[in-house]
Amino acid sequence: MSVNKEIKRITTETIRSMKGAEKISMLTSYDFTIAQMVDAGGIDAILVGDSASNVMAGHETTLPITLDQMIYHAQSVVRAVKRALVIVDLPFGTYQSDPQRALDSAVRIMKESGAHAVKLEGGLEVEKSIKKILNAGIPVMGHLGLTPQSIYQFGTYKVRAKEEEEAAKLMDDAHLLDSLGVFSLVMEKIPAALAQKVTENVSIPTIGIGAGPHCDGQVLVVHDMLGMTHEFKPKFLRQYLNLYDDITDAVKRYVEDVKNVNFPNESEQY
Ligand code: KIV
Repeated sequence: MSVNKEIKRITTETIRSMKGAEKISMLTSYDFTIAQMVDAGGIDAILVGDSASNVMAGHETTLPITLDQMIYHAQSVVRAVKRALVIVDLPFGTYQSDPQRALDSAVRIMKESGAHAVKLEGGLEVEKSIKKILNAGIPVMGHLGLTPQSIYQFGTYKVRAKEEEEAAKLMDDAHLLDSLGVFSLVMEKIPAALAQKVTENVSIPTIGIGAGPHCDGQVLVVHDMLGMTHEFKPKFLRQYLNLYDDITDAVKRYVEDVKNVNFPNESEQY
């Protein structure tokens, strides 16, 4: 393996050490070309999220994506990335049922993709799976709050943990994940005040999506922040570009040029 000595790679330890010192930036990526640009933009961490099921494959939920498909996306991202930490989601059904299956799934991701860590959803319910993966030396990122793999249990994508009971469970789960040794924790779509309380009470960095400004870092789905998923506009999303319009406009101009024999011109032929 060749190592580029000029670029200092971000590790799970770098991410841990950023708590309280510097905010952590994370975006998703699922393919080589976008991952290359995201990495060049100076992102700290890239999540190969199971949101690939939605934005890459067009499924309504994250449930259908398979381990093989996640590994394919992760391989493409890893080939592109020179600096960022690459974390890969364990897809639905590959870690909840039994700890050995969870470890086997995580090992496949690490061996076959070359990624640096895995992420999984849940707290107490998946404690044994987390322990088993960590015991094998694989870094784990947690994910609490609106965990999309449980969408059929929630029945809605609305804000989670607004009520005291669910907020207390989330806090307990955050403490548990911290004590187990996960290196960071994603919190999705929960009240900002709760996210602040968790952030102040755990030793690991929290990374929020729709969880307010007090988390130790922020994550967005890259297609959403680039404005490619034009119908998805939740309150928490900041769109930095409107690529849906830019790309459809470019396609329209290309179609016109082809129809009018304006493309290719003199300099665009051999
Ligand atoms: O799959 C994903 O993109 C995620 C983020 C929303 C955190 O889990």
